[in-house]
Amino acid sequence: MIVKTPPLGWNTWNTFGINIDEKLIKEAADALVETGLADCGYNYLVMDDGWSEHKRDENNRLVPDHVKFPNGIKPVADYVHSKGLKLGMYSCCGYQTCAAFPASYEYEFIDAETFAEWGVDFLKYDYCYKPNNEPGQLLYRRMGTALANCGRDIVFSGCSWGADNTHEWIKSTGAHMWRSTGDIFDTWDSIKALTKAQNPLFAYNGHGCFNDMDMLVVGMRGKGNVGFAGCTDVEYRTHFSIWALCGSPLMIGCDVREMSPEIAAILKNKEVIAIDQDPAYNQVFRVTGDEDRFVWARLLANGDYAIGMVNLSDTPWKASFALSDMGINGTCKRKFEMKELWTGEETSSLEGYFMVDIAPHDCKLYRAKVVKI
Ligand code: GLA
Repeated sequence: MIVKTPPLGWNTWNTFGINIDEKLIKEAADALVETGLADCGYNYLVMDDGWSEHKRDENNRLVPDHVKFPNGIKPVADYVHSKGLKLGMYSCCGYQTCAAFPASYEYEFIDAETFAEWGVDFLKYDYCYKPNNEPGQLLYRRMGTALANCGRDIVFSGCSWGADNTHEWIKSTGAHMWRSTGDIFDTWDSIKALTKAQNPLFAYNGHGCFNDMDMLVVGMRGKGNVGFAGCTDVEYRTHFSIWALCGSPLMIGCDVREMSPEIAAILKNKEVIAIDQDPAYNQVFRVTGDEDRFVWARLLANGDYAIGMVNLSDTPWKASFALSDMGINGTCKRKFEMKELWTGEETSSLEGYFMVDIAPHDCKLYRAKVVKI
């Protein structure tokens, strides 16, 4: 298995769009290491759309943009590897990529071989300009087969935005992760919409083919390609908590060269990352609540629960849950000892339930130990 837990890393798209080049990639690699993000597990550096020339060469191979990548991709991959990181690249199953660069339709095997030769470790594979007469699942299977035969371990990151019932077929394509939603933007509305879209999808997440809720906007503060209104730090923390609780791949989207200490503290919270990376990878489930105010939980490998109490609404919420909704009823003689992973506050549930106030747009993320009463 190429990846046992959801990949963590950084992707160029949210901040830089197609304005990427060798210098940026090297600086981002340096920053991932120097900021300590790499030590927290963020080790995939992914170049998104916009890295190539507009035409293939005479052998139908993709050509890196001569100005952005004057030395080609191999030396960039070597540099990224020298920092202990892995390099990701981007293509698309249609005639062209979403930003209108050449894509891999009918060149799947050539492209997989090219990526392998360059030393690429991860391929994000988009869904734009897909021929109408070709089912997406066949095209993804084609690239999945090409990658599985290219002679190098390359993570296959499907990006079909949940279209055409992606959840029903994606695991048959060899994909290691799959985008379940449309694109994220750096707005609270976008975070809310992507969160709500998860409700019917819990059952389709699973080991080895992780549900990718899209790249993080944490720390963008309205700057860059998908910047827009920006969010508050509380909203970024809620966003990060939900993605980690669900076990989404965590791909940072802000400029890691210029992170504030507050943003670094969100992205580097090791206890929250440990929830995301929990090796059991059990399904997250709704304990109680509705789309706007809810408690979601996940049983972890060591028997603890991760519990997210989330208030997406604009008014304060007196949140509570019954332990019986997690299978722990009166006959069990058990309660929770809980640690809130943002404040470090330790607390205990009562015998049957737990209650706490949650401010608008805020959340509490607990790790709860099941203890005898
Ligand atoms: C699509 C994807 C984004 C990004 C862009 C690049 O919109 O969903 O994540 O890769 O294409 O053009």
